[in-house]
Amino acid sequence: MKKSKLIKKPKVKEVKSEKAGAEPVKKVIATPQALRGMKDILPADQPFWLFLTDKARALAKSYSFEKIETPVLEEAGLFIRSVGKETDIVEKEMYVFEDLDGAKIALRPEATASIVRAYLNHGMWNLPQPVRLWYQGPMFRHERPQSGRYRQFFQLGFEILGDANPVSDALLILVASNLYKELGINTSIQLNSIGCPTCREVYKNELVNHYKAHRSKVCESCKKRMQRNPLRLLDCKEEQCQAVKKEIPQILDFLCDPCRKHFMSVLEYLEELGLPYFLNNTLVRGLDYYNRTVFEIYSVGNDGAAQSALGGGGRYDYLAETLGGRTTPACGFAIGLERTANKIKEVNPALAEKEKIDIFIAQLGDLARRKAMVLFESFRRAGVKVAEDFCRTGLRAQLEIADKLGARYTLIVGQKEVQDGTVIIRDMESGVQEIIDFNKAVADLQKKLFLNAA
Ligand code: HAM
Repeated sequence: MKKSKLIKKPKVKEVKSEKAGAEPVKKVIATPQALRGMKDILPADQPFWLFLTDKARALAKSYSFEKIETPVLEEAGLFIRSVGKETDIVEKEMYVFEDLDGAKIALRPEATASIVRAYLNHGMWNLPQPVRLWYQGPMFRHERPQSGRYRQFFQLGFEILGDANPVSDALLILVASNLYKELGINTSIQLNSIGCPTCREVYKNELVNHYKAHRSKVCESCKKRMQRNPLRLLDCKEEQCQAVKKEIPQILDFLCDPCRKHFMSVLEYLEELGLPYFLNNTLVRGLDYYNRTVFEIYSVGNDGAAQSALGGGGRYDYLAETLGGRTTPACGFAIGLERTANKIKEVNPALAEKEKIDIFIAQLGDLARRKAMVLFESFRRAGVKVAEDFCRTGLRAQLEIADKLGARYTLIVGQKEVQDGTVIIRDMESGVQEIIDFNKAVADLQKKLFLNAA
């Protein structure tokens, strides 16, 4: 069978046969590895993710977004019709396969299409409009893995469905900006308008004419883009195309009156809010469903230079109709969690520090361990920050752990204490020990902790 290129070379282990009397046989056991571009999010990184998702959840609540979850698997057609057949995401990166019923399904490369599908499937147009939704979950794109780019990655997104007013575009940019502010990450917002299908068509013709005039100077991909998807010309990063790209006609000059008014209004809201933004006339986004406002959020280095895109979004007023639904103007954005969590780690590494505990419970011997478990439960139920390591047997090792966890007191239960119905309290700062009644341990310690805090 042909080996999948996706699977990394497995680690190999050699073992000997354990059969009695048998010749030792060397066996090879391969340990499965995570797929290329897919990564485990280990406990050490969880504090940064938790910080991020807690902040996002709180902001969603402040701005009245309700949580929605949609399946990871969808009909492939959903993304082909919405994100666009000729986009990199659908053409080159989407995981598509036939399931056991022969249906062509895809691992979602993004969630906006799924949210619109859910909006239409559940008749959400009957709810008071607009409907504000937020979500979080894994997305899949078969991209070339590199730093900050994975094949399974997480997004967190906000969508406003059923509103054409520019105030919704501005509100989303405000939410994105506030999220990063609260996370302590410096960002810059880049903004553009790609108009409506009518005025964009005029612009596309103009753009193609510009490229036709310089055809010999641009890369092969751009030559194809001129015919298949002219707006993608603006995405080209090839060195040889930059001079031609620099001279392109400005899309904002081609906006029709309603599109220009809409965009001006978004900018006025941002100015009123004191939200800085940069106009970027080559920002078109890599998904076909957008119209009018498009934006991206970049992290900013200490030198003030914009770095990688942390998130992006825009308006998609025609997506619901493309999917066979009624006209539903809408807009939204999504951020990448890996990229954002990595930034949080960079600017706030202290988040990984473990929270100090109040009490550690140490035990010596089987009977004492049973009593210690009961004691632990009493403290936990009383809301005291308590820890244990019931697998350890030696007192010294347990005291070391208590010290590492920053325990204020260690409670020690040994055989003698079990017999006497007592427990030893050790003050971890002074080393002073005293004996108290087992049944009064929780109340006594709560008092001590209260007095210490006062
Ligand atoms: P997108 O720009 O394709 O937009 O993705 C949003 C964010 O997801 C990116 O800015 C980036 O941080 C993250 N991201 C994308 N691909 C990867 C990857 N391979 N590895 C790691 N992170 C990645 C959308 O997906 C739209 N659905 C956003 C939207 C919502 N538009 C309207 N509503």
